[in-house]
Amino acid sequence: KDSYDITLLPGDGIGPEIMESAKSVLSALCDRCGFELNLREALIGGAAIDAVNDPFPDATLEACQSADSVLLSCIGGYKWDGNPRELRPETGLLKMRKSMGLFANLRPAKVLDQLIDASTLKREVVEGVDVMVVRELTGDVYFGAPKGIDTDADGKRVGYNNMIYSEGEIERIARVAGDVASKRNGKLCSVDKANVLDVSQLWRDVVTDVITDEFPDVDLSHMYVDNAAMQLIRWPKQFDTMVTGNIFGDILSDEASMLVGSLGMLPSASIGESGPGVFEPCHGSAPDIAGEDKANPLALILSAAMMLRYDLARGEEADILEAAVETVLDQGLRTADIKQEDDGCKLVGCIEMGKAVADVV
Ligand code: NAD
Ligand code: IPM
Ligand code: MN
Repeated sequence: KDSYDITLLPGDGIGPEIMESAKSVLSALCDRCGFELNLREALIGGAAIDAVNDPFPDATLEACQSADSVLLSCIGGYKWDGNPRELRPETGLLKMRKSMGLFANLRPAKVLDQLIDASTLKREVVEGVDVMVVRELTGDVYFGAPKGIDTDADGKRVGYNNMIYSEGEIERIARVAGDVASKRNGKLCSVDKANVLDVSQLWRDVVTDVITDEFPDVDLSHMYVDNAAMQLIRWPKQFDTMVTGNIFGDILSDEASMLVGSLGMLPSASIGESGPGVFEPCHGSAPDIAGEDKANPLALILSAAMMLRYDLARGEEADILEAAVETVLDQGLRTADIKQEDDGCKLVGCIEMGKAVADVV
């Protein structure tokens, strides 16, 4: 196969700018490598609320499910923060993940030598770090019922969500993590809060059973999430693959981005048992810099590389794209988030960074 249907979801904030950069890069890659991507755009998040009053319209679900793969920028913004829950951009993102069955989110935090000084941590701490966070994506306190804000007997409000995992949900994410770990260096750390939470005790028991039974060669350890947050900063090289629930994974992956130097460098792959995946940077819509051509498009471009590798079986082209990103960093081009004072590098905007990558693929 040398022609693929790709649905692009530009979303909100910096989303449209970084998508423009990614599009120019993908088109250059297609020219160089002799395959075709039929790109079509669909609405999600605030853009979809404004257009059709629905953060994840049925037409978008259809456009995603009928594609070979989906590339998503980011959603959200101040404009919609006061909306009722069902009309929030974030609700659209969660609906997309749930309705497409994207229960596994792979978030690689790989430190590039060119960016060691972009991290706020010491060189010897971050140099050579290569961590893969396997985050469960369709369960946990994000989706648990009951949820809401009610009024108690004293007339005071109570807000609540339910942290809940079924055995089946834990088994399937443990299998993904076991598989990922066995293709890396065989070390897997499961992160939970089993000292306090019943849901975490089940998590720990089920992960242990799945890995012991199905991945006997994987070296499994367990860590409490508070300690894991600290250990990631203290000595991140102790970790290879980590597996954790939805909310712990959300937080730990943003934390891991600062090992790499910027949230603007972290890609991700959201995948299910079958059907197209969604490839999305870990960052949000960065409303503080939206529309200013300051955003780093590399997290989205690296997400496109994950799309090529995982959904289109184009591993060679994914390698070319990742190498092109390193080449522009070698050339000394930096967006503001990865620029250091006196580093001798050239400050560039989002569009110029995209063009530079497109030039070297
Ligand atoms: P954020 O990730 O948007 O931004 C956090 C900080 O990182 C900001 O200072 C921002 O400027 C910077 N940053 C993020 N991406 C960058 C990039 N590519 N280049 C340069 N700098 C970058 O998180 P936030 O400010 O907490 O949230 C803003 C909005 O994004 C909220 O509405 C939130 O719900 C939403 N959000 C969406 C996603 C998503 O679409 N997957 C993820 C996280 C947050
Ligand atoms: C992410 C984001 C989302 C999440 C929000 C916007 C719903 O933070 O993709 O990391 O929490 O999953
Ligand atoms: Mn997040």
